[in-house]
Amino acid sequence: MNKIPEHVAIIMDGNGRWAKSRGWPRIKGHEAGAESIKVVLREARKLGIKYLTLYAFSVENWNRPSLEIKALMQLLATFLKKEEKELHDNQTRLRVIGRVSDLPKNVQKELKRVMEATSHYTEAQLVLSLSYGGRTEIANAARQIAEKVKAGELDPADITEDTVASHLYAPDIPDPELLIRTSGEMRVSNFLLWQISYSEIYVTDVLWPDFREAELNEAIDNYASRNRRFGGVDGK
Ligand code: FPP
Repeated sequence: MNKIPEHVAIIMDGNGRWAKSRGWPRIKGHEAGAESIKVVLREARKLGIKYLTLYAFSVENWNRPSLEIKALMQLLATFLKKEEKELHDNQTRLRVIGRVSDLPKNVQKELKRVMEATSHYTEAQLVLSLSYGGRTEIANAARQIAEKVKAGELDPADITEDTVASHLYAPDIPDPELLIRTSGEMRVSNFLLWQISYSEIYVTDVLWPDFREAELNEAIDNYASRNRRFGGVDGK
């Protein structure tokens, strides 16, 4: 088995607690979390990880206080402006999965600009999940498939797992071999529900703003020590 996963997905959790433990406002935790994204992206490139998918904002996150949402969207816009260079330096293509049209117009504009500017890179991809929900993604795929059936383009008898997979947000990206969650919570939280069917899950107590090079390497080492059988048995 390849010791370095091709695709790593991360549920970045614990920004709020990190800030609270210092008596700081939550947004300070998100700012430090944005720095972790930069560091982890760089390290992932060094390790040879091709796809890095980050849970940056869920469909449920719209229920947070409006001031925090506003600050997060502002941070995202700033991050895109500031870190575009980082993407070029790392020859990394930016992608987005989720209901992008829910995002503020200025954020959509920045995303579009940076995605276009990096679209020619083929070595690595940073996938930001924004206004993302796993159930929303699957429901969306079901709707598109139903439309094709209705239009007479598809026979229901021909619908397979591949049909569903090919209607997800980024069907060309392979499933993540490794899912990391920070801050100790043992939950999947509606992230990549279809794609993580066989992913190895690694949960660390480290809060996202403290998750840096050493912590990523520890997760990868842990993954490399595991034995993936995909429902089969050893040696078969
Ligand atoms: C969870 O911390 C974090 C998020 C809401 C998503 C991740 C956001 C960032 C890393 C901020 C920067 C993002 C970009 C793309 C610039 P939490 O607030 O749920 O922490 P808590 O569980 O301790 O309250």
